[in-house]
Order: sequence, then structure tokens, then C-alpha cells
Amino acid sequence: MRIEVLTIFPEMIKSVLESSIMKKAQERGCLEVNVINIRDYTEDKHRTVDDYPYGGGSGMLLKAGPIFSAVDELKKKDELRILMTTPKGRVFNQDMALDLSLEKKKIVFICGHYEGIDERVRILLKPEEVSIGDYVLTGGELAALVVIDASVRLIPGALGNDRSSADDSFSGQINTGLLEYPHYTRPAEFRKLKVPRMLLSGNHKKIAAWRRKRTLFNTLMKRPDLLENLDLTAEEAGFLNEIKTRKFGCKKRSYANGCS
Ligand code: ADE
Repeated sequence: MRIEVLTIFPEMIKSVLESSIMKKAQERGCLEVNVINIRDYTEDKHRTVDDYPYGGGSGMLLKAGPIFSAVDELKKKDELRILMTTPKGRVFNQDMALDLSLEKKKIVFICGHYEGIDERVRILLKPEEVSIGDYVLTGGELAALVVIDASVRLIPGALGNDRSSADDSFSGQINTGLLEYPHYTRPAEFRKLKVPRMLLSGNHKKIAAWRRKRTLFNTLMKRPDLLENLDLTAEEAGFLNEIKTRKFGCKKRSYANGCS
């Protein structure tokens, strides 16, 4: 993944990308990131990146000029996929992370700040607008970092071993769209709570079946919406129906018909 981040707070981005897994991903050659200070593309002596909104109103807007100059320079060297972090965007999810992790073009993040960005950036550059949720941050930097982190960890080899991102909650390969089963490590007993016996059995087939059930159970308890369009085996649907009946006193025994 090759990324350019356009921001007026480059240190904010660098501090995260220069530590931990993001740093390792760069060392492993899975990720190339460059941070561009939008202020470096201003032309006035005060290096102005923001200005008052036409028509009045509170707050300042990022000016279009410096952003365009930075993007124009990038366009000379590479084919770009431009993203803009904004609370008005499409809400980011795991599918989008996977899509970005496979992107061959250079990905450019434009991080908004203050009250927003001059609308002409959106109209002319046509960035994909991405939100990380229905709340408003002080700027788009944290949002860009969230999107980068979730995407980079899906690049094969970025985490150091291919399995670790393959079967986690939401990721596509093993527990498609479900919440993961619980994990335990030593000691086998902690504050009178024992590790489930099945995990100590050494029987990998039974352990896999137990994990699948716990995955379904967790998802039913915490995010039942994720189960809606899922292809379940008859046994799995029966298992979920049984839990629903027991937990919620549902009389109808068909999970497909729902009883919540
Ligand atoms: N900038 C401010 N709030 C944001 C959000 N929720 N997502 C993306 N960018 C933002």
C-alpha cells in the first residue's frame, strides 16, 4: 500500500505511523507512507492554510489552493485514489478496509480541519468521502489513521504472520462478518475462573466446532444484525434458535423467522 497524507498537523500522523505495527509494516515493505504538510504548498508569506467562510458563520475553512497544489504535484508522478476524511462521508467498514488494502494506486488522504474544507476540493478532486462514525472529531487526522490502520493490517505479511488478521472479528476468511470467539491464555485458572475444558482437550476438530459456536453465540448476543443475511447450516440455525428460546423465552422455534 502506498499512501500520502495531506494534513496541517503532520506530526500527529507521523507519531502514530512511526510506532508499533505501522512502523513494522513499513520496514517489512508492506506500506509506504509519506506525510505532506499542506502549509508547504502555500504561497503567501504567512503560509496561510485557512480562511473565513463566505457568507459568514463561525470557524475557519481549509483553503482549496494549497491542497490543489499538493495534489497536482502528486498527480505528475502517480495514478491516485483520493480519499477525504469527513463526518459527511460513507461510514468506513471492514469491506472498505479490505478494498484499500488491495489498492495498487497511490492512496491520498486529505484530512479536513476547522469547520471543513472549501467545497471546490470536493467538487473538482472528487475524493471518496470517508467517515469513521457518526460523531465529529476536531480534525480528519485521527480518522485517516483509523482507516490506514484497519487497511494495513489486512495486507498479507503486514502483521508478521498471515493468520492473525485472517480469522479475527469481521474479517473475511474464516468467520465472515461475525464476532470472534473468546481467547484464553495461561494460567488455566485465574481468580477461580477456569479456561473452558474444551480448549485443553487437544482435539482440534472439537475445538474448531466449539469456537464456531462461541462465534455464533457472541454475534447473537452483541450484534444480532450481523446474522441476518448469513448462510447458516441447519445445525447452526438450530443452535441459535435454541439460545434464543432459552435466553429470550421465544416460543417460535425458527431462527429464520426471528423472535426478538
Ligand atoms: N472529521 C471529523 N469527524 C470525522 C469523522 N467522524 N470521520 C471522518 N472524518 C472526520
